[in-house]
Amino acid sequence: MQPIITIEGLTKTYASGFQALKGIDLTVNRGEIFALLGPNGAGKTTLISIICGIVNASSGTVVADGHDIVRDYRAARGKIGLVPQELSTDAFESVWDTVRFSRGLFGKAPDPAYLEKVLRDLSLWDKKDSKIMALSGGMKRRVLIAKALSHEPKILFLDEPTAGVDVELRHDMWQMVHGLREDGVTILLTTHYIEEAEQMADRIGVINKGELVLVEEKATLMRKLGKKQLTISLQEPLEVVPAGLADLPLELSGDGASLVYTFDVQSEETGIAGLLRRLGEQGVDFKDLHTSESSLEEIFVSLVRAPSAQDTAPTPAPKPEATA
Ligand SMILES: Nc1ncnc2c1ncn2[C@@H]1O[C@H](COP(=O)(O)OP(=O)(O)O)[C@@H](O)[C@H]1O
Ligand SMILES: [Mg+2]
Repeated sequence: MQPIITIEGLTKTYASGFQALKGIDLTVNRGEIFALLGPNGAGKTTLISIICGIVNASSGTVVADGHDIVRDYRAARGKIGLVPQELSTDAFESVWDTVRFSRGLFGKAPDPAYLEKVLRDLSLWDKKDSKIMALSGGMKRRVLIAKALSHEPKILFLDEPTAGVDVELRHDMWQMVHGLREDGVTILLTTHYIEEAEQMADRIGVINKGELVLVEEKATLMRKLGKKQLTISLQEPLEVVPAGLADLPLELSGDGASLVYTFDVQSEETGIAGLLRRLGEQGVDFKDLHTSESSLEEIFVSLVRAPSAQDTAPTPAPKPEATA
């Protein structure tokens, strides 16, 4: 695989003395969707801002599509589109003028046909003459994406693209990201939503307190962690798992109102058909079933929380499934 971004030994200490990045080494491959997953304050925006030349690194190097981001700033920046976390746009401009101006900033020749395609893909074409201040929050975010794409970047950064957006825009966003990847754009997105990383990414990096704690192919990660749970809501609560079912990987929830069955996503046989038959034979009636795949979430929580949890919490927190 060909790297398009190479980050080596990157650190950032803000003027306050706070160390936001503690030596990041990371390679992003050409054409992939890479999700940087981490809780608030982990350093995601700082990392993206350094690559985009908005924040200066304290040490380390970044090369973007062959250009050092410091020595060769203009060339590097020209390869990159940034959709920032914060909504800030020129309120009085029209959508069309804003996007056209953005393209001009990067010294690109006008290309109305390309910009029209960008706006159409983002369902913004019929809003092209609207003033930005007249748009809804979701539409404003689409404008930010159009701006970021205006100069045909090779690499697109999306900083928390779906934080606070509605379901429809979130799905459009996911589709758009996959479409861009098909056009050969490399995408790095940050998120604190595990589901988003899971839905969108080819690879996932977990960042916490300024350190990358894990980088893995999503598929590998899911295979390693791929346990699913089937929660069976019972008609009548039970006090214990019936003896006739004791050989199965079943646990009773704390209130006895549901049984939780754990199975391996990778195995050919989930065993669910047999489980349901045996519940029937044992006279256990249920009113609802649902599956959950909490594996990535669990590893994320354990990676991110483990050190401090040991310091502060003597007893492990109960699993959410057990109390549901
Ligand atoms: N300009 C700044 N001065 C001092 N500290 C900052 C500054 N910007 C961010 N930080 C701190 O750096 C840490 C990482 O911030 P950020 O990169 O925005 O995290 P994330 O995007 O993962 O939420 C946070 O603790 C934040 O408070
Ligand atoms: Mg951020």
